[in-house]
Amino acid sequence: MEKERLVRIFDRQAERYEKNKEPSSLRMWRRNLLSQAEGEVLELAVGAGANFPYYPSGVKVTAADFSEEMLAGARKKASAYNIEAEWICMDIEKMDFAAHSFDTIVSTLSFCCYENPLEMLKKIQHWCKPEGKILLLEHGISSNIMVSGAQRVLNPLLFKIIGCHHTRDFLKLVRDSGLNVQKSESHWLNMFHIIWASPRNQ
Ligand SMILES: C[S@@+](CC[C@H](N)C(=O)[O-])C[C@H]1O[C@@H](n2cnc3c(N)ncnc32)[C@H](O)[C@@H]1O
Repeated sequence: MEKERLVRIFDRQAERYEKNKEPSSLRMWRRNLLSQAEGEVLELAVGAGANFPYYPSGVKVTAADFSEEMLAGARKKASAYNIEAEWICMDIEKMDFAAHSFDTIVSTLSFCCYENPLEMLKKIQHWCKPEGKILLLEHGISSNIMVSGAQRVLNPLLFKIIGCHHTRDFLKLVRDSGLNVQKSESHWLNMFHIIWASPRNQ
């Protein structure tokens, strides 16, 4: 799908993301993950700022997303939670930063959207300081055969409507990227993965 079309799909969903009516377990996972963020943070695909309530004080967030509508919501959240933030509106897959620019890189529910998620996992390791943190909360294909069957059938339709793939094997992508995983948890029939990691030795 063309990127312009994908941006429009997310622009249309911004109001729903701003209302943030997500299950309490997802909030808890965000809280557990984000409590480890520190220093200069890059948040990929920040959406409407669902993570901002959970950042420890003192972080400085560079927040990127290609949807202006999502970023408008995130700006409101940042000011409500006193988060110091800089904003980048562009396609993250085309972004570049100098090596070792960030203390922490955060992504929640964004690797389902990228054209080349493995490439992005490699790039963030380059942008993160060697002793820095990579904090991920992502979803993908379930290990349950019934659920994964339904995900495979529904995936083309879901991608068209909400812009996100449901059949990616996120743990395999992580393994293939060489990320140093310190801790990981999987939930909801292994559809959701929370990963505390650092860049591979470079
Ligand atoms: C499923 S939402 C998740 C938003 C947020 N991270 C959260 O946890 O609620 C995916 C977000 O990724 C953004 N996005 C998807 N592909 C992108 C890309 N290539 N460049 C920049 N932003 C992208 C969308 O605009 C949307 O805000």
